[in-house]
Amino acid sequence: MSEKKTTVIAVANHKGGCGKTTTVVNLSAEFAKMGLSVLVIDLDPQANASLHIGKKHPSEIVITCAELLLSEIEKLPLAIQTDTNLEGVSLIYGSLALGKTEDELKDYAPRPSEELRDKIKPLHGIFDVILIDCPPSLKLLTSNALAAATHLIVPVESGSQYGMYGVTDLMRLVDKIHRINPDLHLIGALLIRHDERQTVCKLIEASAREQIGKLIDIRIPSSTKVNQSAIAKMSVHALDRSSKVAREFRHLAELLAEQLNLLEGKDNG
Ligand SMILES: Nc1ncnc2c1ncn2[C@@H]1O[C@H](COP(=O)(O)OP(=O)(O)O)[C@@H](O)[C@H]1O
Ligand SMILES: [Mg+2]
Repeated sequence: MSEKKTTVIAVANHKGGCGKTTTVVNLSAEFAKMGLSVLVIDLDPQANASLHIGKKHPSEIVITCAELLLSEIEKLPLAIQTDTNLEGVSLIYGSLALGKTEDELKDYAPRPSEELRDKIKPLHGIFDVILIDCPPSLKLLTSNALAAATHLIVPVESGSQYGMYGVTDLMRLVDKIHRINPDLHLIGALLIRHDERQTVCKLIEASAREQIGKLIDIRIPSSTKVNQSAIAKMSVHALDRSSKVAREFRHLAELLAEQLNLLEGKDNG
């Protein structure tokens, strides 16, 4: 039996509200439906992914990412919550304390950007896919996500003229992280709230292609179903499988599964 490979996808962009959490939540649900074992790591102090996926409030959780990053590796099993609102998706919660953790890591850790990578090493071979939801900043938490990841998706808000603001800083950080994680592979920009009839969307698309270098060949349209599904703590698919957003996240999961060979060795029969 060959050893199972774990793909670790960081979803990062320091612009808030560009669709990072929505991408992590819906992609994780789609991957799980394909029979993959999935873990979501919520590295954002705002803990939006945890509020959506988790059955408990982050304040009730003893070992969230904040504690995990600063504690001994033995705490890892306690951090993983398997009972969530999305079938087949496990969760390591985020919490408000992550802000403080970020400061403490600088003093505590010998290699502050590499704590998460070290902490989740035992999970390689356990999960098929790990998705990391990043905070809206380029500080240490995002560095930790990039250092721990094998792949990177950059959601870009297509419907906003500011959608590409500051993306060069993110790409510069990716270059820097390549020195400690040469295997980090950029999957590409993912256009969110895209409407090809709008001039602004066409401009952002061209700009994303140029500045990020790679564009994922899937566009997520705008829909009120996204907010509704977050309120209902479901994936968009579970809320309304016929919606366009649900369809595109499904296509994204299928595209990535093929590109990254995620179903290799899986029984698809
Ligand atoms: N495709 C979409 N259509 C409509 N609203 C969306 C879409 N994607 C995200 N949103 C909404 O935009 C807001 C920000 O999205 P979110 O995923 O939380 O961004 P981030 O994690 O980057 O801050 C949320 O209220 C979310 O429900
Ligand atoms: Mg978010």
